[in-house]
Amino acid sequence: MNIIDAKIIELPKFLDARGNLSFIEENKHIPFKIERTYWIYDVPGGVARGGHAYKENQEFIVALSGSFDVILDDGETRKVFTLNRSHYGLYIPKGMWRQMENFSTNSLALVLASTKFDKNDYIYDYEVFKLAVE
Ligand code: TYD
Repeated sequence: MNIIDAKIIELPKFLDARGNLSFIEENKHIPFKIERTYWIYDVPGGVARGGHAYKENQEFIVALSGSFDVILDDGETRKVFTLNRSHYGLYIPKGMWRQMENFSTNSLALVLASTKFDKNDYIYDYEVFKLAVE
């Protein structure tokens, strides 16, 4: 996949004096059916997570709280996306090398995934990834 297929998607947002509300519907606000949801929290300072690619899994990541960077690489081009608001998220197509870093204190990353967890879907070696996307 090409990095231009990765994109920030703005979500619906209801601004209200009682507090704001945003939501996501599968195959509408994001281009896949949600098979799994996970979240990353209590990340110690200075830690990088997710140095890997997925062969099939697509993801949508929202910073529900705090901020962090998602670094994407399609084997040729590298791009950094900073997520720091809960009314938008980053769509990551399959076949992207991705890393997450610069987590702020108390940051909370919500991840919606298009597949069930499958260890065999991971590519952990950057050189193997490069060969796979050539
Ligand atoms: P991993 O994907 O390596 O985390 P990150 O990409 O953020 O570094 O997952 C960490 C551990 O959690 C790993 O042992 C697999 C397990 N895990 C599941 O069992 N199910 C899941 O849906 C996810 C995302 C991870």
